[in-house]
Amino acid sequence: MSNLEQEILRHERRWTAGVIIAVAVILGAVLYAAFALHVNPPSNIETIDPKTLHLSAEFTESNLGTRVEAGGQVTTRIVTAQFAFNPQCIVVPANEPVTLRLASPDVIHGILVTGTNVNSMVVPGYVSQIRTVFTKTGDLLMPCHEFCGFGHSQMWATVRVVPRENFRPDANGRVACEKS
Ligand code: CUA
Repeated sequence: MSNLEQEILRHERRWTAGVIIAVAVILGAVLYAAFALHVNPPSNIETIDPKTLHLSAEFTESNLGTRVEAGGQVTTRIVTAQFAFNPQCIVVPANEPVTLRLASPDVIHGILVTGTNVNSMVVPGYVSQIRTVFTKTGDLLMPCHEFCGFGHSQMWATVRVVPRENFRPDANGRVACEKS
């Protein structure tokens, strides 16, 4: 093997090692986000007719917000529409599994809850479902993070995380933000 060939071979090995390290770091970051931070892409696939969702059972106005279901599961239903969340404020208990279900009657919106792993797009025609556990109490900001029109920057809601003892469902299992 000539000196030139050996030189080329050395370069190739160096680049190969670099690529392997880069792939390992990226894979490590993805796995760390998934298993340590619980940041995963939403995987729920469930269709809903955006034209009639406010008329159908689940996303009618009276059914929105937080409710403790028969099995004790806490579910919050939210409609994301130009340019507001309905309801504007939701209450959830801390340190307990919560299921968020969102649907859009108009365009694509997106939600995230600051300081948590909640982050999803809300695409018309589909129900976005996110299961999470809120660990910190307090009012968290939930802005729309998908440009949805001229009112996009005014589109946000509040997620009020309360300690379990302050989470008091009414006779119908409903919990809403106190009007202030
Ligand atoms: Cu809704 Cu941006």
